[in-house]
Amino acid sequence: MTTVISVTNQKGGVGKTTSAVNIAYYLAKKGHRTLLIDFDPQGNATSGLGINKQELGATMSDVILETTTLADVILPTSHKNLFVAPTTSYLANTEVELAQANRRFSRLKNAVDNTAGYDFIIIDSPPSLSLLTVNGLIAARYVLLPVQAEFYALEGLGQLLETMKLIRKNMNPTLDLLGVLTTMVDGRTTLSGQVQEEIARHFPGKVFKNSIPRNIRLAEAPSHGLPIGAYDRFSKGARAYKKVTNELLERTGQ
Ligand SMILES: Nc1ncnc2c1ncn2[C@@H]1O[C@H](COP(=O)(O)OP(=O)(O)O)[C@@H](O)[C@H]1O
Ligand SMILES: [Mg+2]
Repeated sequence: MTTVISVTNQKGGVGKTTSAVNIAYYLAKKGHRTLLIDFDPQGNATSGLGINKQELGATMSDVILETTTLADVILPTSHKNLFVAPTTSYLANTEVELAQANRRFSRLKNAVDNTAGYDFIIIDSPPSLSLLTVNGLIAARYVLLPVQAEFYALEGLGQLLETMKLIRKNMNPTLDLLGVLTTMVDGRTTLSGQVQEEIARHFPGKVFKNSIPRNIRLAEAPSHGLPIGAYDRFSKGARAYKKVTNELLERTGQ
């Protein structure tokens, strides 16, 4: 059975892509066949895995327009068990086209449901509550919600939870919040600690025990086209994502 997880927060710059890439890497490293679907027109997950966007054939745009299958766009990476469904900026045009199409909310779900052979599918979502994001939420069993440890961390999350509720009611009754992952934690500031406490109050029992520290190596790795585990596996960031991946496996019962 495939476990599908959407990494979602409509805010940009909170660590969605960093979390999606690095958790997918550690799942693969642990022997789980893992597919990372880049579902953000910015295509950062694609380039973060070292894939040259200029040289791509079919991409997620073609999958969503149903001119090709998901299996046909999947590429291997240089990491065992880790595969990627790439995206280019053209996905933004595709989203506009999709707005008029039939079954526009369930295109990704259909694609995912018809793709066998993966233990995990991780979806990297765009920074909006757009049609693409809704497709991700309908395709997924779980939402992983990265929250940046900053003052306005919780602002806007009510809207996301409301959207999840509607989707649960209408399209995807088993959608569940897998966990809230606190990112870019600066251990030296009391603000980070206060924000972490506030997040814990807001999401009782849902916050990952391990958080992700602010770590420059995590920001450098994508420019080398590498997940942190392959770029600097002894860095604080690498160790944190490894622990979070173990926690994720516990939470999904694997
Ligand atoms: N824990 C971290 N420490 C330092 N930099 C980080 C960390 N997590 C993410 N970044 C950097 O912050 C920026 C935003 O992160 P990203 O994962 O792209 O967020 P999102 O996908 O939510 O927009 C990127 O430049 C990324 O490299
Ligand atoms: Mg991103």
